[in-house]
Amino acid sequence: MTDVRLREMRWWDIPAVLELERDLFPEDSWSRGMFWSELAHAGGPEGTRHYTVAEDGGRLVGYAGLGAPTEQADVLTIAADRAYWGTGLGPRLLHDLLDAAADRGCAEVLLDVRADNPRAQRMYERFGFRAIGVRRGYYQPANVDAVVMRREMNGKEETYA
Ligand SMILES: CC(C)(COP(=O)(O)OP(=O)(O)OC[C@H]1O[C@@H](n2cnc3c(N)ncnc32)[C@H](O)[C@@H]1OP(=O)(O)O)[C@@H](O)C(=O)NCCC(=O)NCCS
Repeated sequence: MTDVRLREMRWWDIPAVLELERDLFPEDSWSRGMFWSELAHAGGPEGTRHYTVAEDGGRLVGYAGLGAPTEQADVLTIAADRAYWGTGLGPRLLHDLLDAAADRGCAEVLLDVRADNPRAQRMYERFGFRAIGVRRGYYQPANVDAVVMRREMNGKEETYA
C-alpha cells in the first residue's frame, strides 16, 4: 500500500463511494439517497453515525460506516477497492470503526455479513467477532443468509486484532 489516508466521509465523496459500492455490492448497492441520509446523521456530538473514507493520492479507495445510536453499535458498511484487498486496508477501516465505537463507550458491536462472503467473515473473526446467529434469506433476491456477528467492547485501551 502506498500512502493511504483515512478521513471523515463528506457529501462530496458520495459519487466516488457509489462507484465502488456498485462494483462491490452489485446485488444490494446503497443508493445516493441512502448515503446522503446516513451522512445527515454523522458528525458532531449528537451524530449517531461515523463514516470514514480511505484515499490514496486523492483517489477514494475504501469506505466504512458505523451506526451507534445507543451503546450497541453496528458495522453498517465496509468496503475496499479490489486492488487493495490483502494490503491491510479492510482491517484499517475496521480498526477505525472499532475506535469510534470505543470512543462512544459502546458495549458491543454487531454486524450482518453474507454467508457466502468468507473473506469478510475471516477479517471479522480476526478482530474478535463471533457468529451468534443466522438470518435466513436476509439478502434478496439472491436468497442468501446473513450471519450475525458480535464483538464485546472492553474500553478504550484494548487492541483489536
Ligand atoms: C471485506 C473487505 C473490506 C476485507 O478487506 P481485505 O483487504 O480483503 O481483508 P484482508 O485481506 O486483510 O482479510 C481477509 C481475510 O480473509 C482471508 N481470505 C481471503 N480469501 C478467502 C476465502 N476465499 N475464504 C476464506 N478466507 C479468505 C484472508 O487470508 C484474510 O485472512 P487472514 O488475515 O487470516 O489471512 C474487502 O474484501 C472488501 O471490500 N470486500 C467487498 C465488500 C465486502 O464484502 N464488505 C463486507 C460486507 S459485510
